[in-house]
Amino acid sequence: MKKIESFRSLSKEEQIEKLAQETIDASLVKETLNRFTIADPAYKELLENLSENTLALHMLPFGIAPNVMINNTLYHVPMVTEESSVIAAAASASSFWAARGGITATVNGTTKQGQVHFRITNHLDTFSLDQEAINREILSKTSHLTESMRKRGGGIIGIKWVKKEVPFKGYLKCDVDFETMDAMGANFINSCLEAIGRITTEWILTNHPDTECEVIMAILSNHYPDCTVTASVSAPVEMMGWQGHDGRIMAKRFVNAVLIAKHEIQRAVTHNKGIMNGVDAVVLATGNDFRAIEAACHAFAAKEGGYQSLSDAWIKDNIFTFSITLPLAVGTVGGLTKLHPLAKTALDILGNPSASELMMIIASIGLMSNFAAVRALTSTGIQKGHMKLHLTNLLMSYNATKEEMKLAADWFKDKEISSLSVKEFIEQTRNSNPPING
Ligand code: MEV
Repeated sequence: MKKIESFRSLSKEEQIEKLAQETIDASLVKETLNRFTIADPAYKELLENLSENTLALHMLPFGIAPNVMINNTLYHVPMVTEESSVIAAAASASSFWAARGGITATVNGTTKQGQVHFRITNHLDTFSLDQEAINREILSKTSHLTESMRKRGGGIIGIKWVKKEVPFKGYLKCDVDFETMDAMGANFINSCLEAIGRITTEWILTNHPDTECEVIMAILSNHYPDCTVTASVSAPVEMMGWQGHDGRIMAKRFVNAVLIAKHEIQRAVTHNKGIMNGVDAVVLATGNDFRAIEAACHAFAAKEGGYQSLSDAWIKDNIFTFSITLPLAVGTVGGLTKLHPLAKTALDILGNPSASELMMIIASIGLMSNFAAVRALTSTGIQKGHMKLHLTNLLMSYNATKEEMKLAADWFKDKEISSLSVKEFIEQTRNSNPPING
């Protein structure tokens, strides 16, 4: 590979040309990049301008998990995912629970936090901050930034100061609580925090001239322990039967499987990955920040000191309960939510929910994804369903025709699906005339 000089100042056509020259099949790379774009100039400009050096638009399937019953309301939930089993699993679990009273969800809190980290010199031991005075100054001097958010019912809702000798001598931290209503609020929070850094430095300079104060950084935290939502389902153990497996046995096995994920990190990570399959798909579909959600959920999974399952299951008085609590800082206004045409459509399909309602929907889909995975793992095993759904992908890698797809669906009804068996099927089908039949 050769270095490409001033890549960002080249036109898109030049970027594609230069990049393609560095690949084995330049014409295929060019053709593919040029093909994955949008004809409509309005959307093309909007989507391409979301990020720098955009050469094409990456497409992922946008699908629906229909009939998800949450707090007695029915939702058809948009999900964006490339993994063939994710929507099918969420839909199957949702339909199972819709027949058993649906999902119950509650928002526990919506407070988000950010910090300004300072280093102060001199008199750390004796320097004592008049917290009330500085907080008053901060609230008054940030009022122009918070005005619109306050009108909507949010704003800065708490300021705390911590002085420490770790991680270095003279560490001062300002912990700020925010309510951002229906916005995820990242830009709002970061603007306030940077202003708080400046206001504090000035205030210390005026009130403690013998103390030097340096802002190290000001940034929101993606750790959201006070912005969480709980979703749960419950039913008598007798109603937990599935695919011929007895309900009481299924319920006990399920509880044990979740207990394993509480205690064994190897299982916990995979268990939580299954939850994030559903969570990320709705977060992506609604134009929210899935990296922030991933980081927050995994930190939350480690809140007891070790990494654990994010969900819990138990049986009490013959009732099976399955529950999840997740930190979900999402928005239904601002950011990409109304800018990206498909994110806007996803929110329209959900009935334009508030951020709190969206938190409940996302946690519910996370719970359903987890339920479907653990139910399969503790009964039929996961591969049967996965490979059935993966069959189309395997066939597509051989450019299978519609006719071959139909034949394969029939052929593999009662046979094991694997890369090898699909390869053999394609070879035999193409070599035999007429094609093989069951
Ligand atoms: C695969 O994407 C997700 C699972 O591995 C989750 C799990 O094991 O619980 C099936």
